[in-house]
Amino acid sequence: MRVPVRASLQEIEEYKPGKLVKGAIKLSSNENPLGPSPEVIREIVKRLEAGELNLNVYPWEKNEEELRDEISRYVRGGSAKDNIVLGAGVDGVLDTLARIFIANGDEALIPIPTFSLYESLVKIAGGVPRYVKRSSGENFDVPVKNLISACNEKTKLIFISSPNNPTGNCIPEDEIREIIESVDSRAMVVIDEAYAEFAGSSLVNLVREYENVAVMRTFSKAFGLAGLRVGYGIIPEWLASAYKKVAMPFSVNSIAIKAAIAALRDQAYLRKTVERVKHERAFLTENLRRVFKKVYPSEANFVLADVSPAKSAVVCAKLMKRGIIVRDCSSFRGAGDSFIRVTVGTREQNEKVVEALI
Ligand SMILES: Cc1ncc(COP(=O)(O)O)c(C=O)c1O
Repeated sequence: MRVPVRASLQEIEEYKPGKLVKGAIKLSSNENPLGPSPEVIREIVKRLEAGELNLNVYPWEKNEEELRDEISRYVRGGSAKDNIVLGAGVDGVLDTLARIFIANGDEALIPIPTFSLYESLVKIAGGVPRYVKRSSGENFDVPVKNLISACNEKTKLIFISSPNNPTGNCIPEDEIREIIESVDSRAMVVIDEAYAEFAGSSLVNLVREYENVAVMRTFSKAFGLAGLRVGYGIIPEWLASAYKKVAMPFSVNSIAIKAAIAALRDQAYLRKTVERVKHERAFLTENLRRVFKKVYPSEANFVLADVSPAKSAVVCAKLMKRGIIVRDCSSFRGAGDSFIRVTVGTREQNEKVVEALI
């Protein structure tokens, strides 16, 4: 006899990461093809060889504090070390926030299409995701008025990805302020800025201004450290104690902590990477426009294309046959079946995608 798992798990989809096929060009998970700063590798190898990382002991609190200090200097916006919390990627921080705020029957608002983890986390915590459709057609803006009117006494969280995955657009500051001020102390507004470095703008200063705002950032994208799983949240100070209660202890490992510190200290490499990605993003966008009827402007490290009248599944399968993996967006709730998302790769990779499509 098998022990029954929670009935609510029936409604939760397994997270499907971008496929990895040996030898294929993988442009399906918005990773950074340029990789991390060489300083990060040097630092880790040096410390491991010198036996300084003490892998036999749990991550040291002082190192974590040092990372939170570095992050607070990096994000500016007046956030102090005490406003910074760490997690195993943004995913880890989001999971903790969902478990802090969502009790059985509570609701969360999610403008769709967007990152699918939000809805899973809400369901896992026993809550109910409520979807608000972004305006399709032109630019996938967040429908601010609809979102505000969907907020009720059960709403505890509002997830806004900015830049949004998979559409690539940011929410303008005046619109997010309208949302934050309208929902006030009823709901926490979680702004997921996993791709902020590629947008060149951030809403992190809002954490100091409002008590119901948390901003998520990561080392997985611009810093090229997705494999190490380090993310962080900039949260109001009043929330830090609840965060410490709910977060898994030691969720960021000793190597990841040191790597993240080294990555932050090489700002020149970060600037260079971001510039290259932006340059390639323009190249990819321009060339995809030769093939598809609509390619959306992007502030992230990926580009969304409407491939209609073709179906996204067909286009992705054809590219796969040529050894190129892009994301079929039909897996995103509310995205329909004619969008693909292509991660910005190196020039060589981008040329291959365009050639294959042409
Ligand atoms: C909007 C968004 N948030 C968070 C993540 C996950 O970030 P991390 O690797 O820091 O968990 C992703 C990954 O693709 C994403 O698209």
